[in-house]
Amino acid sequence: MRIDLAEAARRISAGQPVAFPTETVYGLGAPAFDARAVLEIFKIKGRPADNPLIVHIAEATQLETLVTAIPEAAHKLAKAYWPGPLAIVLPKNPVVPDAVTAGLSKVAVRCPDHPLALALIRLTGPLAAPSANTSGRPSPTRAAHVEADFGAEFPVVDGGTCSIGIESTVVDLSGHEPLLLRPGAISQDMLKHATGLTFRPVIVEKHAEAASPGMKYTHYAPKATVRWWDGQPDSKALILTVTSNRAGSANRIDYCHDFSTFAKELYDRFRQADHEGFQSVAIERFSPDAAPIAAGLLNRIEKAIQR
Ligand code: TXA
Ligand code: MG
Repeated sequence: MRIDLAEAARRISAGQPVAFPTETVYGLGAPAFDARAVLEIFKIKGRPADNPLIVHIAEATQLETLVTAIPEAAHKLAKAYWPGPLAIVLPKNPVVPDAVTAGLSKVAVRCPDHPLALALIRLTGPLAAPSANTSGRPSPTRAAHVEADFGAEFPVVDGGTCSIGIESTVVDLSGHEPLLLRPGAISQDMLKHATGLTFRPVIVEKHAEAASPGMKYTHYAPKATVRWWDGQPDSKALILTVTSNRAGSANRIDYCHDFSTFAKELYDRFRQADHEGFQSVAIERFSPDAAPIAAGLLNRIEKAIQR
């Protein structure tokens, strides 16, 4: 059910989570300081209780109310990339409920680059928000995806199609060493460019102890099997390639080295494959260095393949 901003703010302030658009994927928001409403998010998504939420803010100054220390590198990243697809993990201010961070003493914060998200947060204050999908399903990039997961009556602010399409880059600046917890549209090079620092990627194995707890769960996967494409035609597969299609076939989509459009459409293609009854999604391999967003895109595809 599509609702306007005023209605969304009213519901959120009454402790009822609402889905809203960001530039990455749709979020499911509740007031960050309302522990009861935050727990409701976990229930709606079927999300494991040990997977913390990102707090969304509308101005960089709100960061000060959420964390106890802001290192120079965090200031530089916020200045360079906020509003934008970057979440920064910092030591948590005790006023932030444990429900938000799943008991961790650090909190992830990001300022989304979407006019509706920013307008909503200005009405409600900081919002704790995971992606607005059922746990284990691909993140929603359109309002209809949210309704497909949570039902037609679920309240959604419709902001059209998300422009980036994969979740934000997550970095951890709470410890001695800068860590990259989740690759996204803000690349390693962009992090280094803004801070002069190298962010060590923390590769999380499926069931290992996780620095970013969310990365150990299966994610992003459709019901169809996701696999690398072997170059062969396959009428039962939705084939996604990064080079161009000389042969031509109805079930093959070519992104012609346009990795931004590929990222924007990936989760919609996963949902399309299920909708149209394909047995698999076969994806042409590419290098993580092919484009700034390529490493993030590759990470989501690998997670869908692992499932
Ligand atoms: O682009 C995005 O970040 C979207 C939109 C809605 O903003 N949100 C999103 O949230 O992807 P979610 O909950 O689906 O993913 C949050 C990720 C998880 O991998 C989680 O483990 C990590 O961020 N995270 C959150 N808080 C953390 C913390 N305190 N320490 C380490 N990792 C954290
Ligand atoms: Mg998610």
